[in-house]
Amino acid sequence: MESKKSLIVAIDGYSSCGKSTIAKDLAKELGYAFIDSGAMYRAVSYYFIENDIKATSKPENLNEILKGIHIHFANVDGINTIFLNDKALTSEIRSKAVSSIVSEVAAMSEVRAKLVALQQSYGATGGLVMDGRDIGTVVFPDADLKFFVTADIDVRSQRRFDEVKNTVNAITLDQVKENLSHRDHIDSTREDSPLTQAPDATIIDTTHHTRESQVEEVKTYVAKLLKGN
Ligand code: DC
Repeated sequence: MESKKSLIVAIDGYSSCGKSTIAKDLAKELGYAFIDSGAMYRAVSYYFIENDIKATSKPENLNEILKGIHIHFANVDGINTIFLNDKALTSEIRSKAVSSIVSEVAAMSEVRAKLVALQQSYGATGGLVMDGRDIGTVVFPDADLKFFVTADIDVRSQRRFDEVKNTVNAITLDQVKENLSHRDHIDSTREDSPLTQAPDATIIDTTHHTRESQVEEVKTYVAKLLKGN
C-alpha cells in the first residue's frame, strides 16, 4: 500500500481484542513505526514490582520514583523492543504479576503524564501507528485515523489464554477472563483518561474476524484516506 509518511493512526480498545496485532500488521504494511503504549504501562508496573513498590494506592513519593524510570524503544533483531533503564523487556511484562497491577498503575495521573508526553514525542514526525486506551482521545486527538476495537469477552479471554498459557505458569481460562474484566472495568472507570471511544473513531469488532480479515478491513479505511475520500 502506498503511504503518506505523515499519517498518525490511533487504535484503542479493550484488553486482548486484537489491537496490537492490527496495529503491528498495519504499521508493517505502511512502513510506519509501531508503538504498543500498553507495554509502557507494563514496564512501569514491572519497575514497581522489581522495587517492591505497592500499587494498591498511589505512592507518596511517586514523582521521585518516576524520575528513576527511563523508557525507550529500540530494534532488537528486527523486533521493536521496550527498554526500561537500558534493560530490554520481553515476556516479563506479560507476567501474571504485571497484569494484575497494571491497571492500577495506569490509573495514576503522574504515570500517565510522563508516558503520554513520551508517546506524543514519538508522533512528532508522523508515520506512526499506536495502540492503547486513550490514543485517539488524549494522546493524538487530531490523529488522521482512529479505530476502536472490540470483541466478545469470551473470545478475548480464549485468545489471551492461548497466548500466555505456555509462558505463564498455572494460569486458567477463568483467571484470564477475570483479569480482563477487572482491567476493562478499571480502565473504563478511572478518572484520568478513561477508555472510551473517540466520537470520530471507526469501530472494528474482531469477534468473528481472523487476523488477516481484520487487518484487511482497517487497510480499506487507510486506503480511502490516502486517496483523499
Ligand atoms: O494493552 P495492554 O493490555 O498491554 O495494556 C496494559 C494496561 O495499560 C491496560 O490495563 C490499560 C493500560 N493502558 C492505558 O491505560 N493506556 C494506554 N494507552 C495503554 C494501556
